[in-house]
Amino acid sequence: MLGAPRPFVKWAGGKRQLLPVLQESLPGSFGAYHEPFLGGGALLFQMVSAGHRRRFLASDLNRDLVDAYVAIRDRIDEMVRSLEAHDGAYRDDPCGYYYRVRDASPRGAIARASRLVFLNRTCFNGLYRVNSRGRFNVPLGRYANPAIVNEGNLRAVSAALRAGQVDIRCRDFGAAIKDARPGDLVYLDPPYQPVDGTGFTSYTSRDFGMDDLGRLAEACRELDGRGCLVMLSNSDSREVSRLFPGWRIRRVRARRAINSDSGGRSGHRELLIRNY
Ligand SMILES: C[S@@+](CC[C@H](N)C(=O)[O-])C[C@H]1O[C@@H](n2cnc3c(N)ncnc32)[C@H](O)[C@@H]1O
Repeated sequence: MLGAPRPFVKWAGGKRQLLPVLQESLPGSFGAYHEPFLGGGALLFQMVSAGHRRRFLASDLNRDLVDAYVAIRDRIDEMVRSLEAHDGAYRDDPCGYYYRVRDASPRGAIARASRLVFLNRTCFNGLYRVNSRGRFNVPLGRYANPAIVNEGNLRAVSAALRAGQVDIRCRDFGAAIKDARPGDLVYLDPPYQPVDGTGFTSYTSRDFGMDDLGRLAEACRELDGRGCLVMLSNSDSREVSRLFPGWRIRRVRARRAINSDSGGRSGHRELLIRNY
């Protein structure tokens, strides 16, 4: 018997601990569910497990992450075997093996997907950071016994993605929102604008800057005009709230799942913005 699926990666800005607030903020009814900044997919997994029959469209600009979702959805047995091989080799020589995998560029879909999951489970703080050439550059984390193969959860994730027939693509949010129809719900959880030097905006080789935030606000207006239901998470800043005049803005208290400054893990406030 499979348990409820949970994010299979630790992801900066992950929404697991905000799920109760997000759930109570959902509209009573809606058509398809769109999540164009998928990350660890906390809300997507919640939605898919709820068992409603609807379309699920998920996307993210991080190619490695999207390929990992697709491999887990479509080729779960090979993924588990590949992660077991990483697990065995890591136990023999954690540091040497971590850096060999980090420096490698495997070609096959399974090898690339399991490399992402392995690095995420063993690197410092579960961060995803690449240099300007797109090379993953996070150092080894300090874990006595990292859970590299969580087979039960990986199988639950695979089953949920297949049962929900979740459409998962690598694309910019601007392309993703074009698929939303009137009555659909779009949940947008972009990289946050840094408020006090603690924001984390680099999940891909390109940072999410002020121009992207402007594009996002424009996309939200377009969705609103089309009759879509829109819910957006972002940092609690005047720049952000100024972009959404007339929308419902709620301040919510959250803990950051990942932060390079451990003092910043305590509490911070963020915004939940809706057009309904
Ligand atoms: C805050 S995280 C999402 C966290 C997610 N809600 C969760 O629960 O884990 C933001 C995501 O946006 C992605 N991203 C960054 N720029 C993007 C863009 N222009 N279009 C689509 N996705 C983008 C990043 O790769 C990252 O996975």
